[in-house]
Amino acid sequence: MLKPRSLCIPPERMFPFYRAGMADADFFIQLKAAQVERLASMRLRYRLAQLDDIPRIEQLVFSRYPANVAAEISPFDTYRYVRYGQVMVVEDASAAMVACAYEVGYDHPDCPSYLLRLVVREDMESRGLATLLNRLASALGYERGARARHALLDSTNQMSLYVHLNKVGSYFRDLVDVPCEGIENHYVSERPLNALTQAANVINDQAVMSLCNGAQLPYGWRLVDAQDLPTIRSLLREHGLRVVAATPPPVVKNSGYRQKLLLTELENPHPPN
Ligand SMILES: CC(C)(COP(=O)(O)OP(=O)(O)OC[C@H]1O[C@@H](n2cnc3c(N)ncnc32)[C@H](O)[C@@H]1OP(=O)(O)O)[C@@H](O)C(=O)NCCC(=O)NCCS
Repeated sequence: MLKPRSLCIPPERMFPFYRAGMADADFFIQLKAAQVERLASMRLRYRLAQLDDIPRIEQLVFSRYPANVAAEISPFDTYRYVRYGQVMVVEDASAAMVACAYEVGYDHPDCPSYLLRLVVREDMESRGLATLLNRLASALGYERGARARHALLDSTNQMSLYVHLNKVGSYFRDLVDVPCEGIENHYVSERPLNALTQAANVINDQAVMSLCNGAQLPYGWRLVDAQDLPTIRSLLREHGLRVVAATPPPVVKNSGYRQKLLLTELENPHPPN
């Protein structure tokens, strides 16, 4: 499913190796190579985690999440994800761990690769590592047979929403109601894993900014305060809109910044006959 073209960076500009109609397998091979190359240019490398990495992974996770959130995934869970899922770690030249991401596959008809955790060490933030790890995880997931990529995202985590919506190209179709900490009011991110959906949904921040700065919103689109979950819920469920973009953070950090989310319809590039 595609976001409106006027909001997105053309796929050929976003990924120079992208060609209209290219096979998904070719796209993901090249996507993986581009991320590995980018890591090398930062003097970093990724590898799949091994069991003896678990203590260091736990340490990194506890350094970035509040303890109650970090503890939602126990070392017992991590053991299984390392053994049977896809836990990626990124290391610098001295083998210090600077980021990690957990993905796990499910035998659901969508064949999803499910993102469970994504952590970047604090001093390595804003260098594009979360975006890069998302792309790498998609490519590795595809290689492992996944054909969709799903996640639940905390609606209060502004940075994560911005990264996933604008940079990674995700969109959200619902909010979870279940009244349990860790999932309540989390966005449901679900999308097919194919070249077009991956390449053509990255947001052009300038386009979002011009809407924020007063350009006329196209009919049916809505720009809503990110805290206004009742309105967003109703637009998702009753109006069939999807959350497609977040307002970029101000260049100069500003405590009064209030994130807004843009909701539009999505286009189906392969409508049923
Ligand atoms: C969220 C997290 C993974 C992002 O990692 P990262 O490597 O810094 O992400 P990227 O560099 O790819 O992108 C960060 C973008 O967020 C932007 N950003 C920074 N503060 C922001 C804010 N308050 N609101 C919105 N966006 C913000 C940055 O400007 C940057 O964009 P830019 O490159 O255009 O400047 C990292 O901050 C982290 O580990 N947080 C703790 C754990 C967590 O919350 N994980 C998310 C679970 S999905």
